[in-house]
Order: sequence, then structure tokens, then C-alpha cells
Amino acid sequence: MPIRAVVYASEAVEGLSIDQLEALVADAARFNKVAGVTGILLYDGARFVQYFEGPEDGVASVYERVLQSTSHTGIVELARGRISTRQFPYWSMHRLPADQLLVGKLARADWSRFKKSEPDEIAGSAWGIDVLAAAVAPYVQAA
Ligand SMILES: Cc1cc2nc3c(=O)[nH]c(=O)nc-3n(C[C@H](O)[C@H](O)[C@H](O)COP(=O)(O)O)c2cc1C
Repeated sequence: MPIRAVVYASEAVEGLSIDQLEALVADAARFNKVAGVTGILLYDGARFVQYFEGPEDGVASVYERVLQSTSHTGIVELARGRISTRQFPYWSMHRLPADQLLVGKLARADWSRFKKSEPDEIAGSAWGIDVLAAAVAPYVQAA
């Protein structure tokens, strides 16, 4: 079954607290679980980069919720497309701490392909998907 993936960047609305953000991510994770969607949310205190993937209908309904949310603005789609296998199956949604450097790098990266490089090629790769994989890797081992 083909999998769809979406990655976008956005800006948190002013005054969004960590408690509100945690409630939002818990709500997102519950919805995504039912929709068969998995992914990651990176937040540097001001900006988001989120990646999610799953079946076409699930991804469409999650994306709709994301686009409707009043908790962020300035949504910029970095890429959307089809992939043959899930790249990030670890969490239905999970927030990872990120610094401005990482979020900026992800927002400017080349997302014209969604397939991760081989594990030994990920370090140093400039593909957005590889930058994300390298950022996620330490948390996957700990999960
Ligand atoms: C950065 C961000 C990521 C989100 N990710 C998801 C998601 O993965 N799945 C989902 O169902 N909703 C997602 N949402 C929507 C929230 O879970 C929540 O339903 C929504 O923010 C509530 O509406 P409000 O922000 O207008 O108060 C996201 C919202 C934001 C701001």
C-alpha cells in the first residue's frame, strides 16, 4: 500500500505555552493513532517542523487538522508525496527538542526525495529526510 508523507514548517503563535503544546501533541498522537499516521514534531521554542506519514486518507485528515489549527501560522509546505515504506514508524506523534539551527536547517533542506539514505550515508547528508533521521536517531534508541 502506498504511503503518503508531508513535511512543513510553521511558526507558533505568540504565547503558546509548553503545557498547551503538550496537550496539543497528546491530542495529535491520539488522532494519528486512529488514522494510522506516524511522525515527529520538532520545536525550537518559536518554529515547528513536522513530518508525518501514513495511508492517503489518514494523512489527508491529519493535514486538514494541522492546517486548521490556530496554534500556528505561516505554514510552509516543504514537501508532500508518495513513498513505498514508512520512514519514521516510531511514534504516532512525538515532540523532540530542537535548537534553532536544526529547525532552520530542516526548513531550508532539500526535500525533493523522501527515501532515507543508507545508515552509513546519513551523517553529513544534506537531504532533509537524512537531517531528520540523524536528529531522531538518538531518541529512537532510547525509546
Ligand atoms: C504544530 C502542530 C502540529 C499538529 N500536529 C497534528 C497531528 O499530527 N495530528 C493531528 O491530528 N493534529 C495535529 N495538530 C492539531 C492539534 O492536535 C489540535 O487539534 C489543534 O491544534 C487544536 O486546535 P487549535 O490549535 O486551533 O486550538 C497539530 C497542530 C499544530 C499547531
